[in-house]
Amino acid sequence: MKTVTVNASKSYDIKIGPGLLGSLGTEAAKLGKAKKIAIVSETNVYPLYGAAAEKSLRDAGFEVSSFVFPTGEESKCAATYLELLNFLADNKLTRTDLIVALGGGVVGDLAGFAAATYLRGIRFIQIPTTLLAAVDSSVGGKTAIDLSAGKNLVGAFWQPSLVLCDTDTLNTLPYDIFIDGCAEVIKYGILYDEAFFTYLESIGPDFDREAVIARCVEMKRDVVMEDEFDTGARMKLNLGHTIGHGVEASSNFTLSHGKSVAIGMAIVSRASHCPENDRIIGILKKFGLPTATETDADTLLRYALSDKKRSGGTVNLIIPEKIGDCAIVPTPVEKIKSFIEEGL
Ligand code: NAD
Ligand code: GLY
Repeated sequence: MKTVTVNASKSYDIKIGPGLLGSLGTEAAKLGKAKKIAIVSETNVYPLYGAAAEKSLRDAGFEVSSFVFPTGEESKCAATYLELLNFLADNKLTRTDLIVALGGGVVGDLAGFAAATYLRGIRFIQIPTTLLAAVDSSVGGKTAIDLSAGKNLVGAFWQPSLVLCDTDTLNTLPYDIFIDGCAEVIKYGILYDEAFFTYLESIGPDFDREAVIARCVEMKRDVVMEDEFDTGARMKLNLGHTIGHGVEASSNFTLSHGKSVAIGMAIVSRASHCPENDRIIGILKKFGLPTATETDADTLLRYALSDKKRSGGTVNLIIPEKIGDCAIVPTPVEKIKSFIEEGL
């Protein structure tokens, strides 16, 4: 088991290893004060891990209730959020009680936003069950729901009190969803760590999950501690996302987030003439991720200009300078189309 500690507006541990779900009750008890715990999960994950989570919490003396919503991004919406708030109120959770988010990024974002806002904020524990949630969304305190106008348009920064990443839960993850998470894992290598990238390059998707998740989480921890509220260095985590978002949205979300980000990273790498472009394209291919799209530059431009990260007349593009080092480059809007064309 590996532990990574985050010291942001809240200090908390991220514990990573096999079999950790069974220790949920004792770990929650260490946080103190809570009597009631509401588990938030969804219809794919709850049947797999809900009973084990409930048993562990009850054995530790907690009063447990479970809120289970239909799986999928469509549930990360205002209607489910309000249902969840009413569930918490009906079960009379108080400010010292706890929420447990058991699932992937959808569960974590929704449960985290409810935790941030119910009674003006109660504590929550993240139990990520996808690779993406383990290496990215469960850490760093971004919580959100979607509006019909776009994804993640309402949210809050609200750090969890504990992240318990039981690597055994990844064994039931469909391989394709696992590979989607690998795009984010590769992203960390391109952004911050050449040796880590080289390890992934040599081993491919059969990597040591505990070690790789721990290293990704360390890198995310470092940037969150530097820029918790996303006004500077944290923007680098957006590598491949501004253009990837256009690829994803223009496919009507039929192409997954991970695959779209992979294409976004490939486009940015080619367009910026990164001297290590071949390695970036090569590793994405080794992981079975796509590196090209049929979507045209005008369409991608339209989405890039509606990106949340746009500020006035520029868009902050994250440009790989070499493996392990990327720059935030404010790029004038009128230069984005030719940049995209160069990378297609
Ligand atoms: P997800 O939560 O929808 O999970 C993907 C699929 O895997 C779902 O069908 C789910 O039911 C299934 N699943 C989850 N765990 C499983 C398991 N152990 N075994 C079998 N099936 C399992 O999607 P995701 O990719 O985990 O997360 C995407 C969400 O995360 C998006 O809403 C995105 O906006 C958000 N996100 C948030 C942050 C952040 O910093 N807060 C960062 C990145 C992404
Ligand atoms: N996933 C991007 C961030 O946490 O900032």
